[in-house]
Amino acid sequence: MGSNFIPRHRPMQPIPFSQEGDRNHGVPAYQDTRDYLVHNHLDQSCYLFSAKQLGRTSRKFQALFPGEVSDAVKANPHPLVLNALWDSGVHTFDVASLGEMERVRRLLPFARLHYNHPGRQRKATTLAHERFKVRSYVVDDRAGLDQVLALGSRGMEITVRFKLGHRSAVYDFGSKFGAGPEEAVALLEQAKRQGVWTSLTFHPGSQCADPLAYADHLAAASQIAQKARVSLYRLNVGGGFPVAYERGSVRRVEDFFGTIRQGLDRYFAGARPELLCEPGRALVASSVSLVAEVVHVRKNGDVFMNDGVYGGFQEQTIMKTPLPTRVWRAGRLLASPRAPRNIFGPTCDPLDRLSVPFSLPVDIQPGDGIEFGLMGAYGSATTTCFNGIQPGDYVSVQNGFTGC
Ligand SMILES: Cc1ncc(COP(=O)(O)O)c(C=O)c1O
Repeated sequence: MGSNFIPRHRPMQPIPFSQEGDRNHGVPAYQDTRDYLVHNHLDQSCYLFSAKQLGRTSRKFQALFPGEVSDAVKANPHPLVLNALWDSGVHTFDVASLGEMERVRRLLPFARLHYNHPGRQRKATTLAHERFKVRSYVVDDRAGLDQVLALGSRGMEITVRFKLGHRSAVYDFGSKFGAGPEEAVALLEQAKRQGVWTSLTFHPGSQCADPLAYADHLAAASQIAQKARVSLYRLNVGGGFPVAYERGSVRRVEDFFGTIRQGLDRYFAGARPELLCEPGRALVASSVSLVAEVVHVRKNGDVFMNDGVYGGFQEQTIMKTPLPTRVWRAGRLLASPRAPRNIFGPTCDPLDRLSVPFSLPVDIQPGDGIEFGLMGAYGSATTTCFNGIQPGDYVSVQNGFTGC
């Protein structure tokens, strides 16, 4: 590889927390949800973020994963989240757009950025290189490879994203991204000829149910590298680790990491690449809850609230699953028996309803607050202002509600 080197930017020294100065970004802080509710009206829904909970999850990932843990910014780019991840030891970020790069660089000037979105405009690739000093790019076709190679090879890492035909996840990323194994071999060979650092990646799909999906991809990665006669610099196993939105509904993250560890031993015993993962969902989901106000209850029990699928609940259109809930009235938790209730959001679109009936207290009434746990991933990140309804704000809480 000659004099090429992957710039590590700066070591993990204690870094000024934020360029913006305000550690809490002007976000009000409370002890817990009760504390927030007794001091605020719920006219607008609200995200309650716990840095403590995020630190706990992040440190668990870093302790158990047999490689480096980076964060997929798209799942939750809120400054509080990015700062808390940095504080917990996550210093590498998978960014998918110039906007994400701008945000991370402004908050965390020494963060390592990986531009792992293969469908890029040439202009975005060039700006990422020049303005944000990104030196690590994912490609999945010849045009994308040429785009990156045009920037020069010095200090560059090119990671080829490949796909297999599996479907064991809620989202099937293979329909949009990834080269087939044969094409991946060709791309890897071409990249190697240019003298860049060569790596492989895959993403088994978000909310992946089966640890063996990772083992299959590791086996395929080893074959691709062998056929291309490339000794991989790095293997990025993507994200996809699932969250137990229903208790016990998914395998533990330990099982996934154990399978990955075994796959590495089995398929890369001779030349072990550096291992990286870039979870979004499983890293951030449990650090945020969302409280929404009940605005109306129909005679048939249907519940209307001031947030819905055009707000923090976009994923309810894709994932048919209840979330953990608890219900507040005047600063106290309702303990009445529960019954299944349809929940509708505030817009006039009939699609604006949660995917399945949720079990709620039978005496729920307007003015009550429903708190949903595990709302940290793809919630506030994907919200809209449809029907003129403003997205909820963030507050920070010492002790968050996870529902677990
Ligand atoms: C390239 C890439 N990496 C990581 C992630 C994060 O995936 P997850 O939230 O399932 O962990 C995504 C999600 O879209 C992605 O596209």
